Amino acid sequence: MPGIVLVGAQWGDEGKGKITDLIAPDFSYVVRYQGGNNAGHTVIADGKTLALHLIPSGIMYPSITPVIGNGCVIDPHVLIEEMDMLEREGFSTERLIISAKAHLIMPYHLDLDAASEKSLGKNEIGTTKRGIGPAYMDKAARLGIRVQDLLDPAIFKLKVEAALEEKNRVLDKLYGLPTYTAEAICAEFEPIAKRLIPHIANVTTLLNDALAAQEYVLFEGAQGTLLDIDHGTYPFVTSSSCTAGGATIGSGVGPTAINKVLGIAKAYITRVGSGPFPTELFDEVGETLATVGGEYGTTTGRLRRCGWYDAVIVRYAAEVNGLTDLCITKLDVLSAVDTIKVCVAYEHEGKRYTTVPDTQTAFHHATPIYEELPGWKCDITACRSFEELPQEAQDYIVYIEKLAGVPVSMVAVGPSREQTIVRGWGV
Ligand code: IMP
Repeated sequence: MPGIVLVGAQWGDEGKGKITDLIAPDFSYVVRYQGGNNAGHTVIADGKTLALHLIPSGIMYPSITPVIGNGCVIDPHVLIEEMDMLEREGFSTERLIISAKAHLIMPYHLDLDAASEKSLGKNEIGTTKRGIGPAYMDKAARLGIRVQDLLDPAIFKLKVEAALEEKNRVLDKLYGLPTYTAEAICAEFEPIAKRLIPHIANVTTLLNDALAAQEYVLFEGAQGTLLDIDHGTYPFVTSSSCTAGGATIGSGVGPTAINKVLGIAKAYITRVGSGPFPTELFDEVGETLATVGGEYGTTTGRLRRCGWYDAVIVRYAAEVNGLTDLCITKLDVLSAVDTIKVCVAYEHEGKRYTTVPDTQTAFHHATPIYEELPGWKCDITACRSFEELPQEAQDYIVYIEKLAGVPVSMVAVGPSREQTIVRGWGV
C-alpha cells in the first residue's frame, strides 16, 4: 500500500509545498486531508512563483490527480479564485477532485472568526480569520454545510436555514453583527454549485481503489504538528488534525495504507499567531533569520516569529507522527549567523524536560537549554550533494538527525525545486 504522508514537524510554514512539489512526480494522487485556506504553500514551478492555499501542490503536474479530502473545510470563493488563477497561469484544474463529505466555510464563519478573536482581546489566538475554527465547530456541532449539499438546492436551503437559526442569534445577540437570510446565501451559492459540481466525487472509494491497484498516493499535511487540535499547543492551535493520523481520518483510508511519514522541519523555527514559543529570539539574530528567510506569511503577510531549532519539538513530532524520514529546509538561511544554537531540552521549576511538557503552564514557562555549534558563513545555495556542503553544515545536519532519532533524507538549500539535496529519500 504505497501511501505516504508529508507533515509539518513544527508550527507550520516549514516549506511543505516545495517538498510536495518536488516529490509529487512519483505519485498519482496528492491529497489535502485537513485545514482550509489558512494554509499557504509557495511553489516555484517553470520559473513561476505560485501561492496555493487550498488546492494540493501537485496540481502543476498533468499526471497527478489533486484531491481535497473530507477532512478539509472549503471556502468556495477562495477555491474558485485559485482555480481561475491556475488556469490563467496555464495549469489545468479539470482533474481536481473534491470530497462530497468535505465541509464548506460559509460567509457567517468568517464573521464569527473575526468577532470571536476580537472578543478574546489580549488572549486572541491570532487566527488567519479565514473562518476555519467556526467551520470545524459547526462540523462537530452537526450544523455544517457539506460539499454534497451543493448537489441539491432544496437540501442546501434546508440546511442553511437550520444553521442560520443559531448563527443569526449569535451574530445579532452576542456580537451585534448583521444577520443573513437563507435566500441570499442560496443565491450566492447557485453559481458556486454549478462551478464545483463537476469536481465532486467519492474520495474514499477513489483512494482505496487506487491504493489497492498499487498506485502512489501522497497525503499533504497543512499547518504543523504543534498546531494540531489534540497534540499542539492548545488553545493556540488550528481546529484540525494536522498530524499524520489526520491523513486517514481526513481522506477515508485506513492506517495500514500508510507506509512512510515524511516530516518537514526548518533548520530554525518560526511561528505565526499567539502562543508559547520557548526558543523565540527577540534580538538581531531573530531579525536576521526573518529577513534572510523571508519570514512573512503566505496567507496573511504577517511577520513570522523566529527562533533557534528546537530539537525537543522535532523529537516530539517524530513520536506523534511516527516519522520515518525528516527533511530539513532553509539550511541556507543559517549561513548568515556565526554560531548556531540548538535547543536540546527545557527547564521549568528545576525539572529538566527532554520531551514537550504535557501541561500548557510548563511549556509556556519552559526555558530552553542550548548546545552551540559553529556556523559555516558561506553561500551553500549551489550545493547539490551532502558532501558539497561545508563540514560545519554537514555536522549540523548529522547532529539534529541524532537528536530527532529519524534519518534526514532531504536538505533544502534554497527555494527552487533544484535546490534540494536528496540524501536517502525514495518511495
Ligand atoms: P486558524 O487556523 O486560522 O484558526 O488559526 C489558528 C492558529 O494557527 C493561528 O496561530 C494561525 O496563525 C495558525 N496557522 C493556521 N494556519 C497556518 C499555517 O498554514 N502556517 C502557520 N500557522 C498557521
